[in-house]
Parts: sequence; structure tokens; C-alpha cells
Amino acid sequence: MDVIKINGGKALAGSVTTSGAKNAALPLLFSTLLAEGEHIFENVPSLKDIDSTELLLHHLNCTTSRQGSDLKVIVKRPESLVAPYDIVRKMRASILCLGPLLARYGEAKVSLPGGCAIGSRPINLHIEPLQQLGANIEIENGYVIAEAKKLRGDRIVFDFATVGGTENIMMAATLCRGTTVLENVAKEPEIVDLARYLRSMGARIEGEGSSVITIEGVDELRPSTHRVIPDRIEAGTLLIAGAITGGDVKVKNCVAADLDSLIQKLVDCGFSIETGSDWVRVRPCDQWIAVDVDTAPHPGFPTDLQAQFMALMTQASGTSVVTERIFENRFMHVQELARMGANITPKSQVAVVRGERGGLSGAPVMATDLRASACLILAGLATEGETIVNRIYHLDRGYEHLEEKLRSLGARIERRAA
Ligand code: EPU
Repeated sequence: MDVIKINGGKALAGSVTTSGAKNAALPLLFSTLLAEGEHIFENVPSLKDIDSTELLLHHLNCTTSRQGSDLKVIVKRPESLVAPYDIVRKMRASILCLGPLLARYGEAKVSLPGGCAIGSRPINLHIEPLQQLGANIEIENGYVIAEAKKLRGDRIVFDFATVGGTENIMMAATLCRGTTVLENVAKEPEIVDLARYLRSMGARIEGEGSSVITIEGVDELRPSTHRVIPDRIEAGTLLIAGAITGGDVKVKNCVAADLDSLIQKLVDCGFSIETGSDWVRVRPCDQWIAVDVDTAPHPGFPTDLQAQFMALMTQASGTSVVTERIFENRFMHVQELARMGANITPKSQVAVVRGERGGLSGAPVMATDLRASACLILAGLATEGETIVNRIYHLDRGYEHLEEKLRSLGARIERRAA
């Protein structure tokens, strides 16, 4: 199995380009199940999670082909409406086929995704709203078995602004009879991107990006063409890579407004940030101060940048309180940072980080999930000596060529067989 080896302590410099957003591309690919024919997406990152999605689409009778970052999906009526355990267990987002299959074909059988390293991650906020739209749903032998001759619109108030739940129900509602009003929905840029694509397919949707989305059902949708938005989490990770090494890094092909909460925190730390129409630049800073961070649904601070920001806080002067409010178990990186010498006290969903510039030393560490992998790489970049990050297959689920991109900024980082 490959590992990533880093010889840190070098300030990064230069410019680097963000790839398309994983968390936008995944729901977009599942939305193709709403309309047979040829769908074309540009700016699709090449990632393990995209491969898993293609695998599930193939199982559902679709074909996919890639040219560079363009991905074509040809959707045909599935022979079987089952999303099997072997594919779903590889990627939780597979549950996003439930809404489209049910709305388009009146039934679906999708394996329960199960828990994962960062929390139990139930799917009640996908199931209950579909029941409210008229679906009969049973859980049997580890599968969600759903049936509905025709879904009908209703008013649905989410208990929590779930990203995946909002996406699943939004897709299902496009083919409902009547109007669906979704309240307390997620406002993430990826939701907005999905709504735009659904609209280009002929869906009648309003309100995306706000907490209420209204969808008037239509009889059918048609395939379309779409460019996936840039990956704000990758952009944020690259900016923190610049910051943590005291470097000067310009991240191109990103939307500064989508990174507002991170940019604000970096400014509070003392970094100087410049933004342009499609770029953000972090300037060198010798010593930054610790700030507290609480994760929250968009536009709050993203949970997907919490681990990376914690790495930055290990190098700050002062004490930072990091509170994880989205997932119950997203501090797996803390023990690994501690192996590098970080002084962090985790308690439930709060971690107190006592920072010290230069206070880490290189060590072999283990990645436990996607963002934890990025966190450990960032810590390695900030550290004199050699850091070896094991289990990097997590990284390949969600970052396209991260080590090449970091190398182009001057990082001494390489992938090699363990
Ligand atoms: N939740 C429920 N019931 C549900 C759904 C969610 O209790 O039916 C809870 C979850 O357990 C969690 C919270 O609500 O505690 C938030 O979950 P949400 O549904 O918003 O997350 P998700 O759709 O499963 C997406 C991203 C995650 C990202 C979260 C939060 C995709 C494919 N995944 O997950 O991305 O952390 O939103 O922003 O879009 C990552 O990229 O590393 C990643 C984990």
C-alpha cells in the first residue's frame, strides 16, 4: 500500500489550480438517473469516489466515458433497481440514487450505507421526507426498500439542514405531482450547483442557496450539459498549506465567496488575504495567533476543513478551541497530531489546541479519513524532518493529485510504495 513521505519545513510559493468539487459532482452524477439519454459534465475530478459512483451507475445500466475532466453519462432504463451493498459500502453518498430512482421508476432497493469513521451518519432525514411525499419504505435485510406509484408534493421541514438529505429530496421532488416546499434545507454551494443542473434538465426549482427551496413537479426531465463548480474544500486545504508553511500561495479557479468563513478565520489569525474574481491568495506570515473555530452548516465554518485548520492551530501562538458540531466523531486526527508532538486535549466534540510554531516533529502517522489525511499532510509540511502518512487511500477518495499540486508549490512530498 502506498504512503506519502514529506520532508517539511519549506515555505510554499506559487500558484495552483483547484479541481472540480467532489461533493458537487457526486449528486450531479446521481441526478442523471432522473432522465434517460446523454448527460455531459465538465470539470469532473478524477477520484476514487467518482469511480465508485460510475460503478453504481454502470450497475444501473448507464455507461460512462471520460475525456480529460469531461465525463459523459448515458442513462438507459435500469434492468434492476437495486444498489447493492458491495458498491454502497464503498461510498455513503450512494444513498443519493434513492430519490432519483424512486421518483423516476416508482421503486428502488438501496443498501443501507452504515456508519463510518467520522460518525454514525443515519439516513432518517432521507427516508422520512420521502415517506412524507407518499413513498412506502421498509428496511429489510440491510436494504431500504422504497415504492411509490407517484410521489406527491408536500411541505417538508428538515430537523437539521442535511446536505445529502436536501439533495436526495430535491431530486425526488422534481418529478412529484404538485408542489414541494423544503424548509430548513442546506445552503451549501453544492446544493446550488445541483439545483442549476436540475433546472437545465427542465426542473422547476426556486430558492436554492436560501433555507427554503420550492419545487414544482414536472412530468419528465431531459439530459443536459453542465460545468461542475470548483472544490472549495480543496481550495481551502491549499490555502492552509500556504499559511501553515509561512508561504505565499495563490489558489486559482475557486470562488472566494464560498470560502468566506475560512478567509475570515485566516484574517483573524493575522494572515493577509487577497481575493480576485476566481482566485484567493494567502501572503507569508511569520507568526499567527490562535483563534477558536466552531463548525456549522454553510455559510458557517465547514466541518470538511476542521481537521486542516486544527493543523494550522498547532502552529499558532496561543490556545484555540475547536468545536465540531456536525459529526460526533471527527477528531480522529487528534491522536495522530499528538504523535507528531501536538498539544491537544480533546473532550467529546471540543478540542483545545495549545499552539507553538515549530512545536511538531516528523513521525509516521495514520490517516483515518479523507480530511484527516489532508490535516496530517499539512502538519508534515510545517514540520522539519520526515513525516510518513499511511493509509492514504482515503486521500484518493477526495483530492485530485494533491501531492503533485503541493510539489508544484515547492513541497518536498512524494508517494511511494510502503
Ligand atoms: N444526519 C442525520 N440524519 C440524516 C442525514 C444526516 O442525522 O438522515 C446527520 C449526520 O449524521 C451528520 C449531520 O447530520 O451528523 C450532517 O450530515 P449531512 O447529511 O449534512 O452530510 P452528508 O450529506 O452525509 C456531506 C458531505 C460531507 C460533509 C457533510 C457536511 C457529500 C458527498 N458529503 O455529507 O463531506 O462533511 O455534507 O457538510 O457531499 C467530505 O467530503 O469529507 C465529507 C465527509
